[in-house]
Amino acid sequence: MGMTDEVDTKSQPVQAEPKSFFIPFSLPSLKDKEVADMDCAEVPDEMESQKKRHLNVVFIGHVDAGKSTTGGQILFLSGQVDDRTIQKYEKEAKDKSRESWYMAYIMDTNEEERVKGKTVEVGRAQFETETTRFTILDAPGHKSYVPNMISGASQADIGVLVISARKGEFETGYERGGQTREHVQLAKTLGVSKLLVVVNKMDDHTVNWSKERYDEIESKIVPFLRSSGYNVKKDVQFLPISGLVGTNMKTRVDKNICPWWNGPCLFEALDSVEVPVRDPKGSYRMPIIDKFKDMGTVVMGKVESGSICEGDSLLVMPNKAPVKVLAVYCDEDKVRRAGPGENLRVRLSGIEEEDISSGFVLSSVVKPIPTVTEFTAQLQILELLENAIFTAGYKAVLHIHSVVEECEIVELLQQIDPKTKKPMKKKVLFVKNGAVVVCRIQVNSLICVEKFSDFPQLGRFTLRTEGKTIAVGKVTDLPSRSSA
Ligand code: GTP
Ligand code: MG
Repeated sequence: MGMTDEVDTKSQPVQAEPKSFFIPFSLPSLKDKEVADMDCAEVPDEMESQKKRHLNVVFIGHVDAGKSTTGGQILFLSGQVDDRTIQKYEKEAKDKSRESWYMAYIMDTNEEERVKGKTVEVGRAQFETETTRFTILDAPGHKSYVPNMISGASQADIGVLVISARKGEFETGYERGGQTREHVQLAKTLGVSKLLVVVNKMDDHTVNWSKERYDEIESKIVPFLRSSGYNVKKDVQFLPISGLVGTNMKTRVDKNICPWWNGPCLFEALDSVEVPVRDPKGSYRMPIIDKFKDMGTVVMGKVESGSICEGDSLLVMPNKAPVKVLAVYCDEDKVRRAGPGENLRVRLSGIEEEDISSGFVLSSVVKPIPTVTEFTAQLQILELLENAIFTAGYKAVLHIHSVVEECEIVELLQQIDPKTKKPMKKKVLFVKNGAVVVCRIQVNSLICVEKFSDFPQLGRFTLRTEGKTIAVGKVTDLPSRSSA
């Protein structure tokens, strides 16, 4: 079972990194001064509440659905890209015979992406609404880059599922083998708890803001979202937009264009999404997605639990390497403290950049993340490769938070009856598509995982073979000697 076509998951943000990050941090900002002599735990909570909440939004969906275009349009509408830059992109896109891609060029910043008109690496950008600071993660839709999409989705709190309403495009994206389904299932497994489904390209001449087309798409997707585990009433919201023209995005669509839409525009919908409150006092967990050298060792990742503060002593797991936090950067700003949900860069002392891999976890010393070479999991088999059977000895690539490792199913323990959700009595030797099964999974080197019931974000995973997601699962048990 070859795994060679797995694409490199190192998803370096394509959006130019905030330059202020490289400004030496010898000049503390006013905010630093105010709290300079306070202990991390004593930093008053009002400071937190004055701040806008922060949400990571991943844009997912089939290739060419308009994710980068919509992301680019958001940046344009929120005043971060001026007309001159847009004109420059229009010219560049035209020169590459990709006229209509100029908005996508805001997010697709490297040459390969611009020439081919396809996102490869996860683009990253920031914008703000009345209530919220957003980090946009623009995932690639092409099936070859699913590992990059997984890395983007694993950093996200909510998802914007972009669907093209253009004749034929919705159909292709939604078919078996299209990325609409795969992305939804992956997003759910990776902890993306809410979805905004934007039905895009409503301006296209095959659509023309047709209510029938919109309703058709909504009615086809709803049952699928339900079967993927989304509570459609509570966790999903649909809306029509044109990412290219910018319609129903910052302001509601004009009744002359779309008389039947009475719902919110995209910015309003994003503004009002509620996400579960996170516990800033939990044990610190930050899966590392990338690292580099810059006056010490800098690691990047999203805080899944707990808070971090300059001066903290932490461990880099699974190696149990003790480190000290020299500085914490959130977006462009150096901050003294950061809580769960934030995407950070953390400068560390006590460790060399070479000794860190993506998949490692920056972790609290008191209660470090468990490290294992084996765990028990409940899996749902999605779609096996043709002729493959799922049995002991099956090999796949495990994606759990930022870990990517080859793994082997060593034992099938029980099959779960999908109707009663109870284990079936019969001994299970192999299972087929659609089955839910409890099994033991082994990897070659130590990895950091949590039980799903303790830390959902660090206890859910996907299995892929030959570039296809074949199963999604959650960790149900760890060997007793696993805790670090
Ligand atoms: P990948 O990154 O390759 O997955 O694609 P993507 O989802 O980012 O799509 P992208 O934004 O690159 O757009 C693909 C094509 O669809 C481009 O030609 C866009 O101009 C076009 N497009 C995107 N949004 C709209 C829209 O609202 N209306 C119309 N008419 N075309 C659109
Ligand atoms: Mg794109």
